Amino acid sequence: MQRIFAIEASKHIDEQVKVCGWVSRRRDHGKVIFIDLRDKSDLVQIVFAPDLEPEVYQLAEKLRAEWVIEVIGEVKKRPKGMENPKIATGSIEIKAKKIKILTQAKTLPFSVQTSGYDISEKLRLKYRYLDIRRQRLQENLRFRHQFINLIRNWLSERGFVEIETPILTKSTPEGARDYIVPSRLEPGKFYALPQSPQQYKQLLMVAGIEKYFQIARCFRDEDTRGDRQPEFTQLDLEMDFPTQEDILRITENLFKEIIEKIAPEKKILQFPFPRITYEEAIRKYNSDKPDLRPNKSDKKTLAFLFVCDFPLFEWKKEERKWGPMHHPFTRPKFNPGETMKDVIKRINKEPERVIAHQYDIVLNGSEIGGGSLRIHESELLEAIFEFLGHKKEAIHQKFGHLLEAFTYGAPPHGGIALGLDRILMALRGENSIREVIAFPKTGDGKDLMMQSPAEVSAKQLKELHLEIKK
Ligand code: AMO
Repeated sequence: MQRIFAIEASKHIDEQVKVCGWVSRRRDHGKVIFIDLRDKSDLVQIVFAPDLEPEVYQLAEKLRAEWVIEVIGEVKKRPKGMENPKIATGSIEIKAKKIKILTQAKTLPFSVQTSGYDISEKLRLKYRYLDIRRQRLQENLRFRHQFINLIRNWLSERGFVEIETPILTKSTPEGARDYIVPSRLEPGKFYALPQSPQQYKQLLMVAGIEKYFQIARCFRDEDTRGDRQPEFTQLDLEMDFPTQEDILRITENLFKEIIEKIAPEKKILQFPFPRITYEEAIRKYNSDKPDLRPNKSDKKTLAFLFVCDFPLFEWKKEERKWGPMHHPFTRPKFNPGETMKDVIKRINKEPERVIAHQYDIVLNGSEIGGGSLRIHESELLEAIFEFLGHKKEAIHQKFGHLLEAFTYGAPPHGGIALGLDRILMALRGENSIREVIAFPKTGDGKDLMMQSPAEVSAKQLKELHLEIKK
């Protein structure tokens, strides 16, 4: 017999069905045993009456929470007054005929019936495979799937091509520390995990792809917070011959579609999204990511905002030098009539006054994305690296591939990257990014379930030409 899901049972009234899943709850009323059976679709009530064959009834008597069972029985309308309008299957029940216990379960370390907010997060993360059984996380992860599916389809319909870029790569400056991976074949050399696919997507523009996107995993070795993970997911996109307005419009239309299709209970405060300059944001709100909601605790309202015209550079106090505000590939704004030589001169003379074609997108006070128009001329890029204090030789060693690529006909290009985990956090009304990621890391970068990071064997170290200093 083909298994059906709990939610489908009401289509089979007075028929025999087979259901499989977990014992969510067991209640005994006199001699009648009631089980809530849970599968991915819902809960359904199973009834074991005392007039069953004794072997079947005896098995039912043994059942405990979270045991995995298979039940064959007849779907019946519940007697009048016994319906439960709180659950979708509340008008029916399954009168068991046969039961198979597929696996038993120890008592779980915590309840999976509740939202889970009151349970120690360390314990939840150690037993994440159990934690995910709770409805809230099931819904968050299924929502995440819908969300990514919608993004993929929407962009594909608009001519964007999804292209995977390498995970074992070379350092790309996004302002965080790199995770590095030692090379076995080349002693003393290392790959870096990408902080973002930034250089690859620009190279794909030189390659004539024209419209690229990727649901991209990014890795940054920085201190973890409620809205930050060492590995996180971006919707990364890039296009050629764009104006800044083209990129902002695609972004806001994508959000409009997302909210209308999968989060219609939310309300976008203002559409098109307001656009303000960085200077105005600081002057008016003293923040480059102001929360524009009239009522800050309102999780229903989504206040999107574009902050544009960031300065190209910022003064790094600790290092006592200029650094890029975003990343070094960001395009400076040219004044009317200015040539590239003029801009380079201006950068060296008054770096604090150079404005960039750079924009961030902010949602309810959280930075959920950022992007820019890019430099596509090797001369300008090289001049900026030199201004930032890199020696010519080092520039070519680190970025020679990009500088060379730009000498073979590079189209003007630009793009944006959206932090999908942060967006999901807002759409699900969660206060931590960890609630929308299946297997997140703790604040100190640990995976408590896999117990990573972990030591490796002496043999592995030797193969990698590494020694651990005690
Ligand atoms: P940026 O560094 O601004 O830009 O990153 C884009 C967005 O990614 C999200 N984000 C994070 N989310 C969770 N945990 C983190 N540690 C984390 N770090 C960043 C934020 C952020 O706005 N290559 C450029 C984009 C471009 O220029 O096109 C980039 O990565 O929501």
